[in-house]
Amino acid sequence: MGTVITIMNMKGGVGKTTVAAHLAGISCRYALGGKPRKVLVIDYDPQFNLSQAFLQPKAYFELEKARKTILSVLLDDDVNLNPYHLQVPGNHSPPKVGDVVNRIYTYSGAHLDLLPSTLNLMYVALGQANGNTAPMEERFEKFIDECKALYDVIYIDCHPAGSLFTKTSLRNSDHVVIPVVPQRYAVRGIGLMMNFIKSKSPGTKNPVPHILFNATSRVNVSPQEVEIRGNKDFSGFCMQNTLKKYKAFSEPEGGKGFTWSSTRAYSTEALANLINVGSELMDRSGA
Ligand SMILES: Nc1ncnc2c1ncn2[C@@H]1O[C@H](COP(=O)(O)OP(=O)(O)O)[C@@H](O)[C@H]1O
Ligand SMILES: [Mg+2]
Repeated sequence: MGTVITIMNMKGGVGKTTVAAHLAGISCRYALGGKPRKVLVIDYDPQFNLSQAFLQPKAYFELEKARKTILSVLLDDDVNLNPYHLQVPGNHSPPKVGDVVNRIYTYSGAHLDLLPSTLNLMYVALGQANGNTAPMEERFEKFIDECKALYDVIYIDCHPAGSLFTKTSLRNSDHVVIPVVPQRYAVRGIGLMMNFIKSKSPGTKNPVPHILFNATSRVNVSPQEVEIRGNKDFSGFCMQNTLKKYKAFSEPEGGKGFTWSSTRAYSTEALANLINVGSELMDRSGA
């Protein structure tokens, strides 16, 4: 049974997509803790940055045209997408996982699949207030259920807003990684996320939060990180490893420029850092 890990923070630009893409890649390409894994990464952000990180534009637009995106999980048909009249799907069955995902890497006993996103998801985000979203929630849940049978670990890259997307993602997740760039106001964002995680999963088992300090200095620990680690509400949820600031984490595009194939200065150090973060998360989540 696969483990579902959402990457979420209500703040933008804290590295959600960077973390999701690199964790997905590393947990497929390296047998962390000696275990090869079948991995799925779902782009659940209308900005589709994660899709762009892994796919060349031509390949991406072909998949989008063929409706091989997360939108198909929520809705059968998008010809009448209208932000003011959200079409409620008549069909409560999502597509089969194998019909919508795209294979990125294959190794013996391990692979990485991607379910891309699309800007058209915006119509759902805009229209949800006046629509009955229960059928979409049901479709998402059924889809994730099939994913859990097919993969060892499923990562979901979320957009920074309270929405149908963040709600469905949390309700179907076992763990939430919260990337935090230690800077002013970071502590407020964490408090908000902790409350949001609790409020969105009433009656269900709450996903376990993991605070991942991102883009940290290679030479010292920031006062903000020290403060958050010292806060009794957060200390138990802080990952020991931090993802450091390396150019080699900032350049993936069209499937190229990832840490594992980067020739940048310090890319070996960046890769070692990523393996440590990935291994710790696999340990903490039991994935
Ligand atoms: N650990 C890191 N080292 C270097 N650059 C990073 C790191 N994490 C994120 N970035 C850069 O910060 C910017 C925002 O990251 P991104 O993953 O798009 O954030 P989000 O998805 O939260 O909006 C991007 O330009 C990304 O390349
Ligand atoms: Mg993002």
